[in-house]
Amino acid sequence: APETVTATGCPFGASAVAPRSQQGEFLTTATGTRLRDSDHSLKAGRRGPTLLQDHHLREKIMHFDHERIPERVVHARGAGAHGVFTSYGTGAKITTARFLAEKIETPVFVRFSTVLGSRGSADTVRDTRGFATKFYTEEGNYDLVGNNIPVFFIQDGIKFPDVVHAAKPHPDREIPQAQSAHDTFWDFVSLHTEAQAHTMWNMSDRGIPASFRTMEGFGVHTFRLTNADGETCLVKFHWKPVAGVHSMTWEEAQLAAGADPDFHRRDLADAIEAGAFPSWELGVQVMPDTQDEMFEGIDLLDPTKLVPEELCPVQLLGKMTLNANPTNYFAETEQVMFNPGHLVPGIDVTNDPLLQARLFSYVDTQLTRLGGPNFAQIPINRAHAPVNDMLRDGFHQHAVHTGQAPYRPNSIDAGNPAETPEAQRPFVEVSTPVSGEKVRAVPATFDDHLSQVRMFYRSLTPVEQDHVAAAYTFELGKCYENPVRERQLAHLAAVDTDLAKTVATGLGLPVPEPSTKVADVEPSPALSQVKAEMNFP
Ligand code: HEM
Repeated sequence: APETVTATGCPFGASAVAPRSQQGEFLTTATGTRLRDSDHSLKAGRRGPTLLQDHHLREKIMHFDHERIPERVVHARGAGAHGVFTSYGTGAKITTARFLAEKIETPVFVRFSTVLGSRGSADTVRDTRGFATKFYTEEGNYDLVGNNIPVFFIQDGIKFPDVVHAAKPHPDREIPQAQSAHDTFWDFVSLHTEAQAHTMWNMSDRGIPASFRTMEGFGVHTFRLTNADGETCLVKFHWKPVAGVHSMTWEEAQLAAGADPDFHRRDLADAIEAGAFPSWELGVQVMPDTQDEMFEGIDLLDPTKLVPEELCPVQLLGKMTLNANPTNYFAETEQVMFNPGHLVPGIDVTNDPLLQARLFSYVDTQLTRLGGPNFAQIPINRAHAPVNDMLRDGFHQHAVHTGQAPYRPNSIDAGNPAETPEAQRPFVEVSTPVSGEKVRAVPATFDDHLSQVRMFYRSLTPVEQDHVAAAYTFELGKCYENPVRERQLAHLAAVDTDLAKTVATGLGLPVPEPSTKVADVEPSPALSQVKAEMNFP
């Protein structure tokens, strides 16, 4: 019988029946034949040539030749950790999801990442950070696949290949590796005013976190929750670091990248090893599930907008503590797969057109990255809940299924899986009405692209604003194309005249006319009140 070993090192019971390899006293081939010599290939005479007959040589080299899998198309560089999520039980009024509604503990695996750099790139670059959490709940795996920035570059997922092509390194020289594939990146964001909000966050100190441990996390999209009475609400997820939010200065980031390109992953692993376990509180902004899916003038389906916490405070649901490092980077951090479509009863998606595209993209890319359709069987991805799917065969199938292939309905096989009755808490999509003509367009409520950019910029302290101006000046200074810089400056002029002046002066360019009048956009009365209280113009 196969031996049961902890295949992932996960201290929370992700034990699995692992193949019996690299155990026992004597060296063997992959198929168990004991070997006398692994240091010399089999040759015709001591001076060769080497014989094709040498199975051990061919097996050893063949396997080595295939050790690498493709890196993620985005978020290639990551660092992971195991932990536990302890629910405060406060979620019961808004969701039936047990890991939020009841005071229970749920094992988690988190992967932090940069977005644009390759697997071997430096940690402290100016970039968005991924913050992806897999909750191994009793009701199935729930993935909260978020970022450390609350807004995204684009409103519709069909633009994702465009923004990534523009931002990833140039195809000829494969430089630069960070946020700024300068001319193409700035060309894209200056031609898409919807990208200005995310870009401003990138240019702020949020683009260079001091540590993964001191980053906020955001689900970005609006999700729909259902409680036990069938009532629904719209929410945005937030992770609040218990250690507070801290960033590096640009100079610190440069020094760290030079002295220790692994700065963030080392910091995370060292903290956990030293017992200084990083922790975050998970919270939600709860908004009414109205027919128009708007809140205080903000379209909740627009992922380039945030809901200011002054308008809708974050309500805390529980605390996550990361307390164990992975045992094997490849088996855990590299092979883990996340998918915003991994939901549990009580949590559902909305029609946000960015989220809708993500629901296709993750499973699709993982088919290639993880070599076929059975990646849910990889130990780090296995559910801790019982799994009784109808899936069969395929590349890297590890299960030895017996009996008939399942199909439904089935009058012959009593062991065929039954559909889950209501009382046993199946996942059921919230039944929302859908209507409209088939169009390739976004609603008019997605049109205001710059007022939140101004709001964010003016919420910063003067020192933080200086950092933003310096970041724009440095990054735009790397552009060769003057029209691109001028177009971007015109957007900055629309956001804040002083900011545009500082950056234009730094670049030796004239201050352009604003690209648009942001004041033309009517803010909601509540937003105006908040702005007035916070001394915003
Ligand atoms: C990773 C696509 C938007 C967060 C990925 C991957 C793809 C992808 C293909 C690689 C996954 C893998 O190889 O396992 C997309 C598309 C998007 C989109 C098509 C828009 C339509 C977003 C947004 C967020 C986000 C808005 C944040 C809210 C992440 C994170 C990862 C990731 C955190 C890394 C997951 C990990 O650590 O393995 N995305 N993404 N993505 N994405 Fe997105």
